[in-house]
Parts: sequence; structure tokens; C-alpha cells
Amino acid sequence: MENPSKFVFLKGIPFIPSLHNVEIIEKMQDELVFEDKDVILVTYPKSGTHWMIDIISLIYSKGDPTWVKSVPCQKRLPWIEIKNTIEAIEKMAVPRLLTSHLPIHLFPKSYFTSKAKIIYVARNPRDVLVSLYHFLDELPSYQSCSNFEDFFEEFVEGNVVYGSWFDHIKGWLPLRGSEKFLFLTYEELHEEFKVSLEKICQFLDKDLSEEEISAVLENASFQVMKDHRLESNEVLIRDNEEPIKMMVLRKGICGDWKNYFTVTQMETFNKMYQEKMKGLGQNLFPWDQY
Ligand code: A3P
Repeated sequence: MENPSKFVFLKGIPFIPSLHNVEIIEKMQDELVFEDKDVILVTYPKSGTHWMIDIISLIYSKGDPTWVKSVPCQKRLPWIEIKNTIEAIEKMAVPRLLTSHLPIHLFPKSYFTSKAKIIYVARNPRDVLVSLYHFLDELPSYQSCSNFEDFFEEFVEGNVVYGSWFDHIKGWLPLRGSEKFLFLTYEELHEEFKVSLEKICQFLDKDLSEEEISAVLENASFQVMKDHRLESNEVLIRDNEEPIKMMVLRKGICGDWKNYFTVTQMETFNKMYQEKMKGLGQNLFPWDQY
């Protein structure tokens, strides 16, 4: 069972006290006002957030990597719910490029009455689980599980930061089809990077030349992003604690879960997945066939 002291809860969702102030997140629901030209990237953690942050940044810089190399991602597309960012967000020039891992029931309400756009990226939850396990293991204040078996249980129960993957995607999915909501998967970015990029450009009304598209593809590739990260020494700032270097680029592949799940875990996960996603339709996601 998860040690509850490492979390603070807001409407059932676990947050990490050194990163989140739940009172501010709650206030922000009514007080953060999106402008029509704002763009918000929404993901469940470990779904390719940093990848999409660099893709969006590079689209806005027309493929020129100077911005992604010189400015950390928290400054380019700040997470709205991370402590001490709200003041900076309010001072940003419009159009603001923003990020959030919030589930829909905690998201600022102004989105629903504005023309602000959301790009939502989802990923095979099995790979999210493995990626999150490694990430949290590196986060000193998190008191992560000592072993993969325990973490597996916590993840399927939604006993992890930002809560259940299933609830997150089921909350946001109904917005698919709206003209201000673009739903993408990590897997399709992998499979058809150029096609996905063109879709994103169209959604953002950005007309890039072939040369600029090629520069975005190049500078958002796993290896080039990794080199940029090393250069800019990206860190996570936490309250009253030493900043830590984040491990966001680990393997960057689809299907790594097969190297971690036992046969029993695979069966447990599949059963849970069927139950939780019942009624959403068949072959909705690339991982439905996993
Ligand atoms: P792995 O841990 O499976 O390697 P997030 O940014 O939401 O925290 O997601 C991190 C995951 O996205 C990591 O997955 C990371 O390697 C992967 N990722 C980041 N940049 C990527 C890129 N350019 N191409 C492919 N995967 C990338």
C-alpha cells in the first residue's frame, strides 16, 4: 500500500508537496484565465511531454534550435500547476505556450469558454508505467517503491502522482473531435513523425516550409534532444530542496514494458485495462493490440 504521507490530495488526486501547492491549484481552476491564442500541452506524466514541448517550441522557432538549446523547458512551456509558476505565467506574452498534467476535473475552467487550444498526448499505459517507475526512482523526495512489483500495483490502483492513467484519459477523451483539441499518441509520433508534425502545424495554424519541417524533425529527434538536454543542464526546482537533474530521456522506445512485465502482470494489466476502458470502443489506440 502507498505511503500516504508522501502525497497531498486534491479532489482525490495525489500531488507531491515539494512540487505542488494544492490550494493554488484549486484557486487556479477559477482564476487562471486562458487567452484565445494560448496553447496548452496536456499529458499524463511520461507520455512524451518533453518531446512535444520541444516539437511545439521548434514549430514556433521554425526549426531553429537556439530556443530549445538555451532555455529550459519549464521556461518555454511552463507547467501551470507547478509551485511558483503562476506569477510567471501571468506575465508571459500572449500567445502563451503552457503545459499541464492535470486531470480534466482540476483544469482551469476558462479553457472551456475560450478558444485556447489543447494538444493532448497519450501513450501506451504499460510503457508509461515503466517510464514513471524509473523517473520516480530518481526523484529523491518521492520515496519511490523499492521494487517494480509494488510500483505496478500502485500504478494500476492510481496510487501515483496525478492519479489514475485510466481516469486521466477517460476524462479528456470526450474532447476529441473538438476543433480546439488535438489528440495524438506517442506511438503515432514514433510511427509517422512527419505526418504527425504536419497535423500539429495545421492545428496551430503554422505554415512551415519543407526545410523548416526537416529542421524540426531533426532537432526533436531523441538523440539531438538528448544532446540539447546535456548542454542546457535541465533541472527540476523543488521547494526547500536542492534542484535535481531530471532523467527525461531514458530509452524513448515503444514496447519497453515487455522487458519488465511478468506474464502474470501482463494478464492482470490486460484484465484491468478491459474493465476500465470498457465501452470506449475497439482499436481506439495503437496499443489496443499492444
Ligand atoms: P522512456 O522513459 O520510456 O524512455 P515525459 O516527457 O512525459 O516525462 O515522457 C518521458 C518519456 O518520453 C521517456 O520515455 C523519454 O525517453 C521519452 N522521450 C522524450 N523525448 C523523446 C523523443 N525525442 N523521442 C522519443 N521518446 C522521447
